[in-house]
Amino acid sequence: MTLLAVDLKEGTKTVHAEAERSKFVKYFFKGEISPAVYGRFLISLYQIYSALEKALDEHKDNANIQLIYFPKELSRKQALEEDLEFFNGSEWREMLNPVSPAQKAYIEAIERCSATKPELLIAHAYVRYLGDLSGGQILAKKLQKYNDLPEGKGVAFYSFDEIEDKTGFKDQYRIRLNQVEVDEVTHNQIVQESCQAFIRNIDIFQEFDDELVGLPLSKKEQEALEAAQAADAAKATTLMSSLAPSNLINSLAVAVGLRSSA
Ligand code: HEM
Repeated sequence: MTLLAVDLKEGTKTVHAEAERSKFVKYFFKGEISPAVYGRFLISLYQIYSALEKALDEHKDNANIQLIYFPKELSRKQALEEDLEFFNGSEWREMLNPVSPAQKAYIEAIERCSATKPELLIAHAYVRYLGDLSGGQILAKKLQKYNDLPEGKGVAFYSFDEIEDKTGFKDQYRIRLNQVEVDEVTHNQIVQESCQAFIRNIDIFQEFDDELVGLPLSKKEQEALEAAQAADAAKATTLMSSLAPSNLINSLAVAVGLRSSA
């Protein structure tokens, strides 16, 4: 059987690229996410991590879960509480309801894995924690840069105080992933569940799409838009010429059998 860490990285490449392309991430990079929207995004994260960390705790004695169980180093719930207080004030708990459709679907997916096949929780831990230790670090810098945050405030979620060397830790985590002992079907299910988890993250991002205001398009985006508009215009011209009177009469004549279609 191939190595799980390798299959996870390969198997999620396309959805990872899709996540990076999402509108929310693009706006994040340009510093266009308002503190109010970010405060509500933190609520979504809190829902996910509450479910994930509860499930991992419940299965910490499972030999495979044990391999990737690092509560001291990785747990994000407490850090999220700090950031939630910073961005939303002390009443942030009142914002946990109603649970949005994307939050609900994500929580239910985690709970389903926990109840039916705990090994699939490895997928959820992988997608979130390795993501936070990778792209998450870039997001933290953007957040600080554009929001002029007071020193050390608002970015607890991205700060892994118990991990000195993030690259080294990620390497260790991948070694642990490769030590997971499951049959081939479960191995493949973990990869599939990871792809699904990426899509659930994209769904969470999309819940904010309507609240993001228009940014000027980059040159590349402008060119892609113009090319798409030109293609649409060409299609419309072809359609119009097929509807020209002489073509219509021919088509009708063929339809009623006055002319052959040849
Ligand atoms: C903001 C846009 C993002 C950027 C710029 C980004 C960037 C990166 C980079 C540079 C790596 C490679 C790190 C390394 O190998 O050490 C990485 C890995 C990873 N990212 Fe992202 N990422 C983004 C969004 C996301 C999202 C939304 C998720 C999932 C929620 C995610 C999950 C992951 C995972 C699981 C890995 C580990 C891949 C592996 O080595 O197996 N990323 N990301």
